[in-house]
Amino acid sequence: MTNAVVIKDLEWKYEHTTQFALRGINLEIPENTFLGIVGANEQGKTTLINSICGLIPHSFNGVYRGSVEIYGSPVLKMSGLEIATQVGLVFADPEAQFTAMTVEEELVFGLENTGYDLGKIKERLDWAVGVTMIGDLLDKSPYDISGGQKQRMAIACVLAMNPPIIIMDEPTSMIDPLGKQFIFDILRKLKDAGDRTIIVVEHNIEQLAPLADQLLLMQDGQIARMAPPAHFFDDLPNIVGSGVYPPEVTSFAYWLKQSGYVPPEQVLPNRFDEGVTLMQDALRNARDNR
Ligand SMILES: Nc1ncnc2c1ncn2[C@@H]1O[C@H](COP(=O)(O)OP(=O)(O)OP(=O)(O)O)[C@@H](O)[C@H]1O
Ligand SMILES: [Mg+2]
Repeated sequence: MTNAVVIKDLEWKYEHTTQFALRGINLEIPENTFLGIVGANEQGKTTLINSICGLIPHSFNGVYRGSVEIYGSPVLKMSGLEIATQVGLVFADPEAQFTAMTVEEELVFGLENTGYDLGKIKERLDWAVGVTMIGDLLDKSPYDISGGQKQRMAIACVLAMNPPIIIMDEPTSMIDPLGKQFIFDILRKLKDAGDRTIIVVEHNIEQLAPLADQLLLMQDGQIARMAPPAHFFDDLPNIVGSGVYPPEVTSFAYWLKQSGYVPPEQVLPNRFDEGVTLMQDALRNARDNR
């Protein structure tokens, strides 16, 4: 399997600080997989993704050791433009990225510099607009739409460039509940398409876990744990101790398992429907054993 990202022995310290913000990071992200990054505040989640997209060390000063490679090329040696064709980044605050008068102009803006012909640009735009459901916003000013719509537009801008790797840093943290659901719906479509690598920092584990192939816990600048969602919470008290709360259905199943109502080999669910099946099995077993 090809790796989209390979990180070897990465260490990073921001200038004027005493502690390393990243320590001993080794990570491989296979292409076309979905990595969910979780962790309490100030643990290095943003620093990690800024290293993957090359903002560290290109736009920050500090001490950099080790290497980050995107499809085999070290980000240290890639230009900003080279990195931008490989990695698209969506921030928590979509407004930071606007420059145009209408949503449509904003979408076209990035594509105009790519040198693609008009047919190709239109094809890309139609796809990005469709996935993000912003067809009715194209004539509007980016400043006159809701926070959730702004975020969908920011995602459409990134998708229009069609990078093989898409990174989002807490994309739902600044928007209302309905807007959040739209973002998770977009992530679901991208995941199901299966043709790009997606890396998302997100506090809503309830929604993140069912999407992710792997969950990664950042703690004190290090990767404290990385596992598929079905096993990420096996040592639940430890994860909770690090400030990360599992989906409710996972907690419930964990305590059923601890109490002996479900067998020790039971894989912990993270989706509600899986939890219902587990509960039905537990009830059946209890009845049969009476
Ligand atoms: N530009 C910077 N200059 C100096 N120190 C920084 C800078 N950005 C982050 N840090 C420090 O690096 C550490 C990791 O911060 P980072 O923003 O990566 O954490 P995070 O897990 O993304 O937190 P949050 O959940 O609050 O977004 C923290 O101690 C933070 O104070
Ligand atoms: Mg952060």
